[in-house]
Amino acid sequence: MENRIRTIANEVAAYSASDKQGVEQFRLSYISKKGLITELFDEMKKLPPEEKKKVGKILNELKQAAEAKLAELNEQLERSTASSIDLDLTLPPVTQTVGNQHPLTLTRNRIIEIFERLGFNVADGPEIEDDWHNFSALNFPENHPAREMQDTFFIEKNPDILLRTHTSNVQVRLMREQKPPIRAIMPGRVYRNEAISARAHCFFHQVEVLYVDKNVGFADLKQTLYHFAKEMYGKDIQIRFRPSFFPFTEPSAEIDITCLICKGSGCNVCKHSGWVEIAGSGMVHPNVLRNCGIDPEEYTGFAVGMGIERVTMLRYQVNDLRLYSENDIRFLKQFHTVI
Ligand code: DAH
Repeated sequence: MENRIRTIANEVAAYSASDKQGVEQFRLSYISKKGLITELFDEMKKLPPEEKKKVGKILNELKQAAEAKLAELNEQLERSTASSIDLDLTLPPVTQTVGNQHPLTLTRNRIIEIFERLGFNVADGPEIEDDWHNFSALNFPENHPAREMQDTFFIEKNPDILLRTHTSNVQVRLMREQKPPIRAIMPGRVYRNEAISARAHCFFHQVEVLYVDKNVGFADLKQTLYHFAKEMYGKDIQIRFRPSFFPFTEPSAEIDITCLICKGSGCNVCKHSGWVEIAGSGMVHPNVLRNCGIDPEEYTGFAVGMGIERVTMLRYQVNDLRLYSENDIRFLKQFHTVI
């Protein structure tokens, strides 16, 4: 038996393999449960104790040698496959695909950038809001239609807790927390119980703008928005103010810019008028200032509420609101920062 072990030991030492199969063959022949070494161990158990001890020792040595050999063969194999890979070091690198920002994020960031340069701070407020901050403080009469179920998602009734229908709630929170001068812009998501279509969605985004100080007038509002439109859309953009009504501003105006989709010649987006509304605005109503603890005799202010989807639509010529929330990668990957 000792001689057989020695012969096998010599075989093991001399074994070489050029591929994976060869290595596997080695494992099967010598080391596996059905291999030669296991067989020898079984045989050894039958030997008389004296011999068992002696044979056991050399058999163990053989086992260790075979295991070391297997490791060596595996290592050799790995080295040879690595070096045989066809490497062309002159190839240009594969460009890493990095995700890009959502078009609404790009627009929001651009709006923030423009207003920050004018000295506005960015502020944030809750999306789950109470009736007072969303409506009452903003001078909505008790029975105003905007409070009805058709527009507002209520979470709780009495006291009413709801999903904010506009970012104007942040105006209220800011004015109650800070003393004028206040110059802030407040981007965020808003919710309305509307049927989803190309032109309406149950959630969308707004940016609220608020400037409260001594002697703030309508001219400041006009000039600020005129500056904004030119920064956002280029110097040839035209802007117009249309008289309007909001409970929280007096006087109020809606702001239109020339339709960038049809360049004024008339299309579905501008309803063939050549103009598209991008924001509501006005001078903060004295009642609102009072509700927020600011003396309307001493301070005045202007406010703007702008739809980010609308601004984005004109910026990138996308005229279906649903595309913004469908997460279709083919749509999303088309947008890059426009500087
Ligand atoms: N909150 C209004 C809305 O969602 C938009 C708005 C209009 C905001 C006029 C204002 C404003 O700050 O002055 O329809």
